[in-house]
Amino acid sequence: MSDTNRADQGRSPDSRATAAGRVAVVTGGASGIGRSICESFAAHGYRTAVLDIDGTAADEVAEKLRADGATALAHAVDVTDREAVFEAMRQVRAEFGPIDILVTSAGLVGFAPFTEITPQDWHRIVEVNLTGTFHCAQAVIPDMLAAGWGRIVTISSSSAQRGSPGMVHYTASKGAVVAMTKALAREYAPCGITVNTIPPSGIDTPMSRRSQETGNLPDNATMAKAIPVGRLGAGADIAAACLFLCSEQAGYITGQVLGVNGGSVI
Ligand SMILES: NC(=O)c1ccc[n+]([C@@H]2O[C@H](COP(=O)([O-])OP(=O)(O)OC[C@H]3O[C@@H](n4cnc5c(N)ncnc54)[C@H](O)[C@@H]3O)[C@@H](O)[C@H]2O)c1
Repeated sequence: MSDTNRADQGRSPDSRATAAGRVAVVTGGASGIGRSICESFAAHGYRTAVLDIDGTAADEVAEKLRADGATALAHAVDVTDREAVFEAMRQVRAEFGPIDILVTSAGLVGFAPFTEITPQDWHRIVEVNLTGTFHCAQAVIPDMLAAGWGRIVTISSSSAQRGSPGMVHYTASKGAVVAMTKALAREYAPCGITVNTIPPSGIDTPMSRRSQETGNLPDNATMAKAIPVGRLGAGADIAAACLFLCSEQAGYITGQVLGVNGGSVI
């Protein structure tokens, strides 16, 4: 199925014309939430770039998207490596054209009592979650300014809303992502660029499963009991919100924190 045909499904002529031409970059696109967002963009006709530190997994995701008829590519990149980020964006631009959409899902979680967080752990978590978002946004905003249109969605965390204990470094990094999102939104609102954040909670992904294996999160059944809607979320729940925030129709929404959490944080 061609990109255009995919984009045709159930969409208005106006959104079909625009979505099919858009170039979307997703960091952390090889796994979990980022992967679901890539699948959603690809299924709706966006040209999708899967960026991830795990190049092999990113290649596999892009290959699967292409096998399903989408236009997709993959690049191995560590979002903390500024030069590599700018080079990856240059390559996306060379293959697909200017970047319209950025979603920053690459992230690292950490658990430790506050007094046991090492400076190394602190720096790595802040580097990946916050500074990585900074590098990626700086690398793509010039394209969006030139086009007078852009969409950025950062993936933060409900821990920034709740103040989660035992993960102060992670919580602080995600709180900074929320604040950065709001400041970027105000700075670029006059330029046609919207910037919003989705703080997920309780999404069943490889990251949350690893955290369960190490005893840092309860099992799914226990978690589901604590979530008002009575189930864990899926990557697709985040992808649906992300697709909307990146649409034409969401042009009047910027600087917002759209919780996708089954009612856990209201
Ligand atoms: N799963 C949840 O319930 C949940 C809750 C709150 C926030 N989040 C956030 O959602 C985002 C996605 O999480 P997930 O659950 O899908 O995790 P995941 O581990 O399944 O996916 C994260 C991806 O990011 C990639 N990545 C890690 N460090 C990177 C780096 N330096 N450069 C490039 N890529 C890197 C990983 O290789 C992986 O593919 C993260 O930012 C996470 O903090 C998730």
